[in-house]
Amino acid sequence: MALAVDETIEELHFCTDGVVTRSSIEQKLVEKAVLDLYDPVVRDPYSRLSVRLLRLRHVAFLMRGLHLLPQGYESLDASQPWICYWIIHSLRLLDAPIPSKLSSQIVEFLKRCQCPTGGFAGGPYQMPHLATTYAATLALCSLGTEEAYQAIDRSALQLFLKSRHMPDGSFTMHQDGEVDIRGVYCALTAAMLTNVYTPEMFAGSAEWVARCQTYEGGFSGEPGLEAHGGYCFCGYAALILLGKEHLIDTDNLLKWAVHRQMRLEGGFQGRTNKLVDGCYSFWVGGLLPLLHYTLMKTGDKSLDESAWLFDQEALQDYVLFCCQLEKGGLIDKPGKSRDFYHTCYCLSGLSIAQNNPGDGVDTVVGHADNLLKRTHPVFNICEDKVDEARNYFKRQPMVLLEPTV
Ligand code: FPP
Ligand code: ZN
Repeated sequence: MALAVDETIEELHFCTDGVVTRSSIEQKLVEKAVLDLYDPVVRDPYSRLSVRLLRLRHVAFLMRGLHLLPQGYESLDASQPWICYWIIHSLRLLDAPIPSKLSSQIVEFLKRCQCPTGGFAGGPYQMPHLATTYAATLALCSLGTEEAYQAIDRSALQLFLKSRHMPDGSFTMHQDGEVDIRGVYCALTAAMLTNVYTPEMFAGSAEWVARCQTYEGGFSGEPGLEAHGGYCFCGYAALILLGKEHLIDTDNLLKWAVHRQMRLEGGFQGRTNKLVDGCYSFWVGGLLPLLHYTLMKTGDKSLDESAWLFDQEALQDYVLFCCQLEKGGLIDKPGKSRDFYHTCYCLSGLSIAQNNPGDGVDTVVGHADNLLKRTHPVFNICEDKVDEARNYFKRQPMVLLEPTV
């Protein structure tokens, strides 16, 4: 827990330097809400040993979402493959079975989101988009059945990915759409998992991504903007996939990333002076293993190879005590409502925090049964699903298509 028993609440409260702003008030309110949840555990530290991940309730919440979505999800009409991915990956992390009939139904639905020109749209009859192509590819690889793999039209996918590549190495998210760092990562992930990657498809991309590193050390959505955990994960994961992590200032990135873990809450914020949010348990919590591997590769002698570069127990405390709803589902912060996005990324971050590097002993806060399956820190589907998909697509021939215009 980020909170030590002998520290007083006053000392731990966010220092405003005497300047009260809307942001400093919001921060104090979050700290108060978090402290209320941690207080019983600070009083009785033994109760922390038995805290439980509410597995069955989370599974019930997720399974319901595969059958019927609450009305609020109307606004995610253009994100339907995302909902599939968030739910399937969460179920995989929880090691919950996905019945084969349901799996086939999801595959059939995702096929309807696939466009004849390649890539996946946010829903049937919508236009292909890199983010939903990423989500659909991950959902299908996480299902991991022959029919799920076969659903992907790889020749057309490759053509779609090529069509999004710009001369400066950046990627547009869709035809005539915006450029941002997510595009490079989404395209790389889809290309590498399905084995349609070629170096030419990403010419100049590593250099373009490196230009997104800001003076703070993190990455922004495009060159010149503010560093943010979501974009930072995408940028650095893309550099790792391209084998070009040396193009950036690693020390500055590491400094930026470790400072995103909140001293009192234990969870991560997404950018300087903003609030903790459960989803950054993965976007920033997943970035630190990537940095760990870079430091290992460069032979950094100061690295503890048996643990990640953040307080793993404090993050687990935040997820288990502050982000779980009794009725199932996980949330951004106390007082917020549950959704599949936060359920997926809280669980993904929890998996990272529990599963140490290599084959070492796990670090599990609470009951031993809280241990989740290990997620792959670059692709964010379970490691066995990454291996299975890559092995499958390695053996599959592919017809190379030429653009028609
Ligand atoms: C700010 O939200 C959020 C962003 C600027 C973008 C976040 C990007 C991701 C989560 C990455 C998405 C990744 C893929 C693969 C598509 P906010 O202002 O509501 O939140 P904040 O106060 O926490 O910054
Ligand atoms: Zn969030």
